[in-house]
Amino acid sequence: PIHPVVLCGGSGTRLWPLSRKALPKQFAPLVGGKSLLHLTLERLALLNSAITCVTSEDHRFLVKETMDNACATGRQILEPVARNTAAAMASAALVADADDLLLFAPSDHHIPDAPLFARTVRSGIEAALSGKIVTFGVAPSFPSTAYGYIEAGAPLPDGHSQAVARFVEKPTAPVAEMLILQGGYSWNAGIFLVQARTLIAALREHAPEILQACERATAGATRDGSFMRLESAAFSECRAESIDYAVLEKHRHVAVVKFEGMWSDVGSWNAVASLHPADDAGNRLNGKASALNSRNTFIHAPHRPVVALGTENLIIVDTPDAVLVAGVGCAEQVADVVRKLSQEG
Ligand code: GDD
Ligand code: MG
Repeated sequence: PIHPVVLCGGSGTRLWPLSRKALPKQFAPLVGGKSLLHLTLERLALLNSAITCVTSEDHRFLVKETMDNACATGRQILEPVARNTAAAMASAALVADADDLLLFAPSDHHIPDAPLFARTVRSGIEAALSGKIVTFGVAPSFPSTAYGYIEAGAPLPDGHSQAVARFVEKPTAPVAEMLILQGGYSWNAGIFLVQARTLIAALREHAPEILQACERATAGATRDGSFMRLESAAFSECRAESIDYAVLEKHRHVAVVKFEGMWSDVGSWNAVASLHPADDAGNRLNGKASALNSRNTFIHAPHRPVVALGTENLIIVDTPDAVLVAGVGCAEQVADVVRKLSQEG
């Protein structure tokens, strides 16, 4: 069996004012009234296994409620502080059985074709059991600097996967443009299939301090029903680094399986907008929104009526305590603005 592990500790600021510390993006109702975490749990249910969610202590009740609503059985590993994905994945691997096949999945992505997703994941089993870290590649559509880039090499004997020749995490804009021009690269979907023992060995090779801190944090962990709490002092000492930088860029035994379905990491308001159907004028309206004589305007208005009149190329996001009005060309800059706001207090 495949054991899904949902990484649920991020605090995406690119969807401000909807996504913030108290309610990160994976918990916000974004698609048909359901959160991305809810949809992720439903998708992973197709693998017929109990689900582990690795999340922050602060979000345990939100995660529990979402698991109950999505009819997901499983447990939570609670982090006292966020130390990025290498530490979250290391901890989950350390508390699993060494032979367990783990599927690490982000909590905040949109992948509508769940059966295709499950079939694609299963097609990576053989490569994972042969000691590879299996990544999933999606066809890139523009030179994004927000993703990992995977260069596929020789086909592997299992017939579904290819060896990874090169992994480049979040390239600069000129490098991303070069990789796209060069061709042969996929975007890393951020989903990993790997045996616990394989991941632990790779961490021991490339990021031994992270592994050691997590060994201490899991050895000192306490259990309380379906919650497992990592030991705070040891985990806090851990370096915060993503698995992509800590391991994938350096490791030699990485494989890639192509994912052919629709995939979005819902990384900006433009990406959220594209999840809603457009009317004849290109307007996309959610909730109590209306647009008159407007074009290419996206309105997120779950709480109260929001009306756009004669607008063009706008993003309007209404929440109870903050409003965003942005040009569609500026959607990628929202995180920078939020950083500035929080510095100014
Ligand atoms: N438990 C836990 N703890 N989860 C975390 C933490 C943490 O400290 N930090 C991030 N996560 C979760 C996020 O909630 C998300 O679901 C997932 O791990 C990935 O983290 P992101 O912070 O969203 O990573 P990214 O989007 O910048 O980059 C990764 O995903 C891209 C695809 O969306 C990389 O793997 C890229 O290579 C990849 O292309
Ligand atoms: Mg992400």
